[in-house]
Amino acid sequence: MSDANPSCVLAVALFERVFGKTAYAHLCVTNAMASDLRGSWGVRYLWTRLLADPQFSSLRVVLPDSRQDAADTLLTSRQKGGTVALRKDRPMLVVSSTSWTADEDFSILLEALAIYDTAAAAHLPPVVALVTGKGPLRGFFEAEVAKLSLSRVKIVTAWLSAEDYPLVLGSADLGVSLHTSSSGLDLPMKVVDMLGCGTPVCAFRFSCIDELVDGQNGLVFGNASELALQIQDLAGQLGRLDGRYGQLLQGAAQFRETDWDANYTRALELFK
Ligand SMILES: *[C@@H]1O[C@H](CO)[C@@H](O)[C@H](O)[C@H]1NC(C)=O
Ligand SMILES: *[C@@H]1O[C@H](CO)[C@@H](O)[C@H](O)[C@H]1NC(C)=O
Repeated sequence: MSDANPSCVLAVALFERVFGKTAYAHLCVTNAMASDLRGSWGVRYLWTRLLADPQFSSLRVVLPDSRQDAADTLLTSRQKGGTVALRKDRPMLVVSSTSWTADEDFSILLEALAIYDTAAAAHLPPVVALVTGKGPLRGFFEAEVAKLSLSRVKIVTAWLSAEDYPLVLGSADLGVSLHTSSSGLDLPMKVVDMLGCGTPVCAFRFSCIDELVDGQNGLVFGNASELALQIQDLAGQLGRLDGRYGQLLQGAAQFRETDWDANYTRALELFK
C-alpha cells in the first residue's frame, strides 16, 4: 500500500490525467486547485485507510475514530470476537456524485436502475444508489425518483461533508460517472476520486474518458441498457476475486498505488 500523501494523489491525478497532456499554462490552474484540495481534502483522505484485503473479509474503509456512517451499518456486521465484516446479505452500494447541472443526464442512471430492478434475478443483490452533491437539478431528480416504484433498488440523494465523501466513495462497490465534456479536455474529477478510493467505476463514454477509465479499473457505457448490463454483471460477482469485478477492483487498487507523489515531483521537474 502506498504511503503517498493523499492530497498529492489528488493533485497529481488532476495534473496528469486532467491537464497533464495539454499545456504548461494549465499548471497554475492545477496548482491553485491542488492547494485548495490540500486544504480541504488532504487530511480527510488520510482518514480513509483502505485495507487491501483480498478476501473482502474486513471493512474496506476504516474510520479513525468512533464515527460510523450509515453505509457502515448497512454493509457490515460485527462478528463474534468483535471483528467487523461485510454482511453476506448486503446490498450493492453504487455511488455517483454530481453538481446537478444539465451537463449530466441522470435519467440514464434512473433508467438503468429501473432495468436492474425488473431484470435482476433473485440471486443478484439489491442495490442502494447514493447520489451525492448540491445543485440546480437535484429537486427535479428527486421528483423523478419519487415517481418510480422499485422493489430491489433504493435511490437516495445526499449532501456529504468533505469528511464523509471519501469514506462513502471508498465504501462503495461501484462508482458511476455521467460526466460528459464537449471540449474533450476535462476528465471527471469524481472518477479520479472514486479510483483514488479504490472503487471501480462505470463512466459515461465521451471523447477522452479512456485516458482515465481504461477497462482495467472501470467500464464505459453509452446508454442506460449498457449501464444496466454492466451493473448486473458486476453485482453478480461482488465479493469474488476472480472474474470481472475482481479485476476491476485490482485495477482501481493499482490506480491508487501508483506513486503519484514521486510522479508529481518528476512532472514538476520537467517543467522547470
Ligand atoms: C446501447 O448501446 C449498445 C452498445 O453500444 C447498443 O448495442 C444498443 O443498441 C444501445 N441501445 C439503445 C437503446 O440505444
Ligand atoms: C507518471 O505515471 C504515469 C503512469 O504510470 C507515467 O505514464 C508517466 O510517465 C509518469 N510521469 C512522470 C513524469 O514520471
